[in-house]
Amino acid sequence: MRTSGVLPDAFTCSFLLKACVSLLDIANGKILHGVVEKLGFGSNLFLQNMILNLYGLCGEMADAMLLFDKMPQRDVVTWNTVITQMLKRGDIEGASRLFSRLEEESGLRPNQVTVVSVLAACADLCALDLGKRVHEYSNRSGFKNNVLVCNTLIDMYAKCGSLEEASRVFDEMEGKRTVFSWSAMIVGLAAHGRAQEALSLFSSMLQDGTEPNGVTFVGLLHACAHMGLVDEGRAFFTSMTRDYGITPGIEHYGCMVDLLSRAGLVKEAYEFIMEMPIKPNGIIWGALLGGCRLHKDIKLAEQAIQHLSVLDPLNDGYYIVLSNIYAEAGRWEDVTRVRKLMKARGVKKTSGWSKITLDDGIVHEFVAGDESHPQAEGIFRKWDELVVEMMLRGYVANTSLVLLDIEEEQKVKFIYRHSEKLAVSFGLLNTPAGTTIRIIKNLRVCEDCHSALKLIAAISGREIVVRDRNRFHCFKDGCCSCGDYW
Ligand SMILES: *[C@@H]1O[C@H](CO)[C@@H](O)[C@H](O)[C@H]1NC(C)=O
Ligand SMILES: *[C@@H]1O[C@H](CO)[C@@H](O)[C@H](O)[C@H]1NC(C)=O
Repeated sequence: MRTSGVLPDAFTCSFLLKACVSLLDIANGKILHGVVEKLGFGSNLFLQNMILNLYGLCGEMADAMLLFDKMPQRDVVTWNTVITQMLKRGDIEGASRLFSRLEEESGLRPNQVTVVSVLAACADLCALDLGKRVHEYSNRSGFKNNVLVCNTLIDMYAKCGSLEEASRVFDEMEGKRTVFSWSAMIVGLAAHGRAQEALSLFSSMLQDGTEPNGVTFVGLLHACAHMGLVDEGRAFFTSMTRDYGITPGIEHYGCMVDLLSRAGLVKEAYEFIMEMPIKPNGIIWGALLGGCRLHKDIKLAEQAIQHLSVLDPLNDGYYIVLSNIYAEAGRWEDVTRVRKLMKARGVKKTSGWSKITLDDGIVHEFVAGDESHPQAEGIFRKWDELVVEMMLRGYVANTSLVLLDIEEEQKVKFIYRHSEKLAVSFGLLNTPAGTTIRIIKNLRVCEDCHSALKLIAAISGREIVVRDRNRFHCFKDGCCSCGDYW
């Protein structure tokens, strides 16, 4: 086209940019950006937004910001693009700053897409403070009664560990609730271990005349799994197909396997897997393996790991569970064998991390054993103080969970440096007395951290909310919302 002397117009550029977006081709995207400027389309908002989106999608945030700052006009799409891309990259601080600028200087009214996509990103990141600000903003902008916004708010608050706020939004929606509102609330209650409330909300939903969908049943089955309600869970699983014509998906089967294996019915869970009409995935076998650990069934654990080593060969979590099972049974030569196997297969150990976000939006991340934080000294001192008080209340470090062949004293030090312990000590030092501490953890919380956090909540008079890989734990007054069943 160019060699035959035909000048591309704005449409040509938009088609090419679209192609770059679908290929994530940043190199050609940059060339096109140059072409767009040269052809004088520098003030074409549509094209500028496309380039901005391309930079964001390809992770070129510096270029995206450069372009953003230079743009002669910006619309809602522009702000939306940059804020969501920042959030997707975990930059809560940058996104909050930009959000303030949007509120203060632009005079723009956000649209539903801005609010919903920013809230969804907040939910993924547990960015509660930004989520609250978006909520206020959406109130002011006339979205108070927007059903989609309200549903997203419920989900955001529930995923950020603030069930009270989620129910407030839900309660105020009276008359406008859809199946998504009910399901978001049921799933939220289930993740927090509040099974009875989840089940009674389901009854209200039916009374209200709302037909459940597949997500509703995921919530219900989760609720049953978290509280060991085996018969109720079985009844829901049957009812979803019989009464509502919903074909169970892999996630429903996953919940059932989880429910049965946690409750100690590992053999039944195994048979259930063998009879599934769809091919079981790693999550399903992983749920069985978790149950085998709780109920010390080595034979079935070995079966599960055989499937897992094919389905999800590089996931270290499963091998670690297996070596835990061997260790608890005192079978040290098998522990060594699993370790060697991991090495031979190139499985790398995922280190545990915990994140905590302070009021200024800055995220602090701790990895196990971390001594690099600028406040490290203060954090360790705080931890040492806590240990003294915890011991007065009967705490003993549970080193049976440390699978290293090291001295007992080393084991204690090891377990004292778990990332959630560092994060909570840091949180106590850096947040006002009485406020809730919120932590996200990438792995399952270990037994020792779980007992420690219960005591720390009591000692400090704080509520501590931990979102781990599977669920929420709300520690308060020496207890956890999971009722120690997790
Ligand atoms: C939004 O408006 C609702 C209904 O008036 C109110 O209850 C809620 O507190 C407001 N939320 C925020 C964060 O402003
Ligand atoms: C330590 O944890 C293991 C594994 O969960 C558990 O079986 C054991 O009872 C715990 N020991 C103490 C002293 O709490």
